[in-house]
Amino acid sequence: MTKFVGVLTSGGDNPGLNAAIRGLGKAALGCYGMQVIGFRDGFRGLMENRSVTLDGKMLSGILTQGGTILGTSRDKPHKMLVGGKEMDMTQAIVENYHRNHLDVLVCIGGGGTQKNAYRLMQQGLNIITLPKTIDNDVWGTDMTFGFDTALEIATEAIDRLHSTAQSHHRVILVEIMGHKAGWLALGAGLAGGADVILIPEIPYDIKIVAESIRNRSRSGKSFSIIAVAEGALSKNQKKQMDNFEEKLKSAKDKDEKKAVKKLMEEISGMRSGQTLRLAQKLEELTGIESRITILGHLQRGGTPSSYDRILATKLGTVCAEYINRGIYGVMIASKGEGVEAVPLEEVAGKLRCVPHDHQWILSARWVGTCLGE
Ligand code: F6P
Repeated sequence: MTKFVGVLTSGGDNPGLNAAIRGLGKAALGCYGMQVIGFRDGFRGLMENRSVTLDGKMLSGILTQGGTILGTSRDKPHKMLVGGKEMDMTQAIVENYHRNHLDVLVCIGGGGTQKNAYRLMQQGLNIITLPKTIDNDVWGTDMTFGFDTALEIATEAIDRLHSTAQSHHRVILVEIMGHKAGWLALGAGLAGGADVILIPEIPYDIKIVAESIRNRSRSGKSFSIIAVAEGALSKNQKKQMDNFEEKLKSAKDKDEKKAVKKLMEEISGMRSGQTLRLAQKLEELTGIESRITILGHLQRGGTPSSYDRILATKLGTVCAEYINRGIYGVMIASKGEGVEAVPLEEVAGKLRCVPHDHQWILSARWVGTCLGE
């Protein structure tokens, strides 16, 4: 019996998504004679039954393309804006899964997607996921595709900022994506030789950062490069967030929870623009002129690196093989040189942050990088 495979991409786009769709599609079609149906714009497309048949023609010529040929969105099945109102659209999604006679739905995405996919699995759907995100923070996999490409882009930016910072004797802060995990800022900072690296996992003390810049200056190095993850927190902000987390846990009802969440959002909101404020404060404390560069979505655009193309192809093709064997409810994860299926219930709701004893952190310290501690 021909198997019907649905596939969607969800969450932020990233390089390697098309390589994964192609790997899955080509193996499913060519090796196992399956039918592959792509749904547009993440879970929203499945809810609205907007689909496209992924045949040989559609899958051809996309390996090197950035973005996703299917489109994506951050829509969640259980909280979707429909006609201006937030609604639970899970049932519509379940119905469309069956309407399309799907044997399995492959959801390609980051942490949020893993959680949403697991929710659909709990509704009785056969689900397999693939881990993608430039943040590299999906639990259960050694690596997500998209990360390597973004790492190269951020590293090149740091390389290029060196000559201008040096020429003008300035401090340049480069803001790198990663709200909750600092893999990208840490990796690019290490590879690009940033003098200071600030990541969400290590709350920073601005006085210590300023002192490290003054020390460089005293030793004759009149410029500094600071790699800041967009989710980096000062020690003070971290304390506030921890207090709110505690309050959230002990909140008695929905209204109290909502109020605490609002306060937490205010701190997160305060963090947008924090790189500029940090630059201003450092200028005050060190007397050295400062500038900022926000890399933003440049880190997510364009063609994937060869590493990401291989990783995405590997995960996509192995996914087809698992479907052929009828193994569902798993995320196809990268483990060492190989691939492993991790139960989705273990992955959903978890985040892979940088461990404090990770070799990248130890090595950064050993080469004298200030981590703001
Ligand atoms: O989840 C990946 C990511 O690129 C994060 O690093 C970043 O914080 C976020 O997406 C930005 O999201 P959006 O593109 O929806 O603004």
